[in-house]
Amino acid sequence: MILVTGGAGYVGSHTILSLAEAGHTVVTVDNLSSGHRQAVFTGRFVEVDLGDRELLRRLFKHLHIEAVIHFAAFCYVGESVTSPEKYFNNNLVNGLNLINAMLEAGVRKIIFSSSCAVYGVPQEVPIPETHPKKPVNPYGMTKHFFEEVLKTYDAAHGLRYVSLRYFNAAGADPQGRIGESHDPETHLIPLALRTALGHHSEIKIFGANYPTPDGTCIRDYVHVCDLAEAHVLALDYLLSGSKSICLNLGTGKGYSVREVVERCRAISQKPISSRDVGPRPGDPPELVSSGDKARQILNWKPRHSLTEIVSTAWNWHNNPKF
Ligand code: UFG
Repeated sequence: MILVTGGAGYVGSHTILSLAEAGHTVVTVDNLSSGHRQAVFTGRFVEVDLGDRELLRRLFKHLHIEAVIHFAAFCYVGESVTSPEKYFNNNLVNGLNLINAMLEAGVRKIIFSSSCAVYGVPQEVPIPETHPKKPVNPYGMTKHFFEEVLKTYDAAHGLRYVSLRYFNAAGADPQGRIGESHDPETHLIPLALRTALGHHSEIKIFGANYPTPDGTCIRDYVHVCDLAEAHVLALDYLLSGSKSICLNLGTGKGYSVREVVERCRAISQKPISSRDVGPRPGDPPELVSSGDKARQILNWKPRHSLTEIVSTAWNWHNNPKF
């Protein structure tokens, strides 16, 4: 049985669908602070806060867990700057509770939901996994520190891990069962599509004078179902006894904010007003993954294009279930 923390969240819920399709039995734990119970389609669900060490201990004692996939975390870069304690507590302290409970129960395999935010402002693009880790906000720091904790536990206790550093997760389940639903929503594609639907009057373009061809930031958008598949492959990798590793999950192709908004206009067939405003603090001009390592190690290849990302997201935002 695979234990998934934060399985009621965006990437977690899509991964649970992929795990079930691959034949895995899943137990989801989530405190529902930002996740959605309706997003968990299969397996058992237990409402657990990772701050509750006793409950965690009991869970591991009573369930036969082979491996853990750890999504549960706070993920707003801006909020992490103003409330770092919230991020250190949840992403680090609660993460430690989890891996300590795992070790106590003899569970020594974990997939960790990391981020390209570990790199900070890139010194080279596309960004290889070996790039220096100099996070520029507390959110990225928590992801980097937790990777360091995992490395240390590997050496000391034989905890094997795969840390997956996502670039920009986007899109939705092609069948429209689940999709992206954050509160507040801060991400580009959902905000642009919600503007198309009339929920907002315009989309603000944060920064138009970056050193990029059209002056707006470039990001590597990767379909959430491709991310989900990477977790299934990473699980196979760990269960077969392979060694710990950190991998980028991106497509290797970047799109500017203007290109993304334009694609949202084309797919929604709506005008989508936009306005150039000042840059958002902490946004690097360009974040694009060098995707070769995940391809070599896991045989993972992202299959969905930007058009499919925006189309599936458009389908979801037209008919959100939660
Ligand atoms: N953007 C706008 N207007 C908006 C929202 C976003 O112009 O209203 C721009 C941003 O400035 C950025 C791009 O669109 O250039 C993408 O922004 P998102 O907020 O969609 O995503 P981020 O790149 O900020 O964040 C992602 C992940 C984080 C991760 C971060 C690493 O969501 O979890 O990458 O930098 F930490």
